[in-house]
Amino acid sequence: MCGIVGYIGKRDAYSIVIKGLKRLEYRGYDSAGIMLHDGNDLKISKTKGKVTDLEEVSAKDNNFFGSIGMGHTRWATHGVPNDVNSHPHLSNSGNIAIIHNGIIENYEPLKKELIKRGFVFHSDTDTEVLVNLIEDVQKKENLKLGKAVQVALNQVVGAYAIAVFDKNKPDEIVVARLGSPLAIGIGDGEFFVASDASPFIEYTSNAIYLEDEEMAIVRLHKPIKVRKIKDDTLVDPYVQELKMNLEQIEKGGYDHFMLKEIYEQPSVIKDTYRGRLLSNKGIIQMAGIEDNLEKFLNAERIIIVACGTSWHAGLVAEYIFEEFARIPVEVEYASEFRYRNPIINKKDIVVAISQSGETADTLAAIKLAKENGAFVFGVCNVVGSSISRETDAGAYTHAGPEIGVASTKAFTTQITVLTLIALRLAKAKGTMSNSDYHRYLLELEMIPDKVAEALETNDIAKEIAGIYKDSPNCLYLGRGYNFPVALEGALKLKEISYIHAEGYPAAEMKHGPIALIDESMPVVVIAPKMGHYDKVVSNIQEIKSRSGKIIAVVTKGDTQVRELADHVIEIPETSDALSPLLTTIPLQLLSYHIAVMRGCNVDQPRNLAKSVTVE
Ligand code: F6R
Repeated sequence: MCGIVGYIGKRDAYSIVIKGLKRLEYRGYDSAGIMLHDGNDLKISKTKGKVTDLEEVSAKDNNFFGSIGMGHTRWATHGVPNDVNSHPHLSNSGNIAIIHNGIIENYEPLKKELIKRGFVFHSDTDTEVLVNLIEDVQKKENLKLGKAVQVALNQVVGAYAIAVFDKNKPDEIVVARLGSPLAIGIGDGEFFVASDASPFIEYTSNAIYLEDEEMAIVRLHKPIKVRKIKDDTLVDPYVQELKMNLEQIEKGGYDHFMLKEIYEQPSVIKDTYRGRLLSNKGIIQMAGIEDNLEKFLNAERIIIVACGTSWHAGLVAEYIFEEFARIPVEVEYASEFRYRNPIINKKDIVVAISQSGETADTLAAIKLAKENGAFVFGVCNVVGSSISRETDAGAYTHAGPEIGVASTKAFTTQITVLTLIALRLAKAKGTMSNSDYHRYLLELEMIPDKVAEALETNDIAKEIAGIYKDSPNCLYLGRGYNFPVALEGALKLKEISYIHAEGYPAAEMKHGPIALIDESMPVVVIAPKMGHYDKVVSNIQEIKSRSGKIIAVVTKGDTQVRELADHVIEIPETSDALSPLLTTIPLQLLSYHIAVMRGCNVDQPRNLAKSVTVE
């Protein structure tokens, strides 16, 4: 996730690009940059920090103006957030500038090749590789910018929305997309390019949204030409009339960031394993693991420390690590761990999970573990965050900015990363059969489509929400891999709708919570057709005989639970270990709709903050 903006026309490009970047800051905000061309010269200003920091930095140059400009607000993927890694990036000659949203997966071999050919790199980014590749192609084959971009993109594996500018061709910007959004606004004698239409909504209501694998040359006073990147065929561009307001556009047309983030899960889960899971080669490659493989293989214990939803992801990981890699795992609330004089050995690996990477208790737990000689591995979403810097090694989740305070896509991407690690270790330790290993790789690759299918439960979740929105309490039950999902479902409901909710391992119900069950108690039971299905069915029977209202999350085609439950929500089939990635989806939707119906502030629930930097 990053935001990109470009302008070519007669107006002051600086103010258009800066205003556009502010509107795109929801897409990333760890660094920002702008390029302007004043008719003669190309100038760049960039900095770590937000767009307001960029304004301060660029204000120092009195001659910073132009009617062509491009800007970028960054969500770091390769290379920590700092001035040098910020976009735009320039090619070695200084002639070509690029802004990029996405990930170039094969940047390493491309970079090696370019270094051999004499190119020098200043940043750690994949984007600088792409701009130099374009320059290399352009020089070698004496091509115009558009053609050079096309040839270069055909060598690239990954995802991108890019805008490219060549000082020698100052009346055009070349744009292309694969997997990341890109809109072109068509004004009167002017064009805009952006990650969404919010930067240009007040200037024009006509826009072309590029499709995947398409590129366009945006040239002053010329109609837009759209082509297929692969085979150069011309595409007739569809010019849409925009009807959205600004706020809707920033939220991608969703009413709330939380809903948008719930719906992003198919694509961000893919982003999480992209370049790491190579099922055709049967391998999982993650630099943080490969570099420390011996430590993981010799680990006598893994201690997971986290808070809230991240702690729930840790609980799912406990089941996965123990089953796949046969390493004993303990999962600790970071706040408890840090204050209870824990026994930490040198052969322990501490895994810290955090979306924000700034949670004070998790950070303190990491410091304590390090003081005691443990190797600490981080699973974070925010690149360059305190936790990612404090840990010895780690793996990012690549979920993009999570704006809604209630964590959704962070949870599923954390589970995805932890599953990849467990599979990698299982392979290295030989604790899983080859056939199971390969089956899991393939199944994991099917998860994004299955999550998309699970999102189709939205209507039924909304209908059920309408029935139970006024209940004062709600119970969530699950077993095995889905016990943590029950905890997470309950947390989601209480934090955004203010309904009291509890999650329990289903079998624990009879040790106390069963006393709560009567005809007014909704009980959400997670009962996919694998794992401990029969046991869960017995638990459902126990609830039914006490007149509790049963909302069951089941595998598609289930008949047994359907007969017992008041409501069923069907999700696609997958293996037990991967089922939390699917069962959690309808629970997120259920909480969301209940909160909306109760008139709650879904994205900013009372008393909460997105990152808890105090203990
Ligand atoms: C719940 C939620 C919180 C966070 C917790 C940890 O929806 O968002 O429970 O999961 O505050 O935050 P991170 O993952 O940023 O360390």
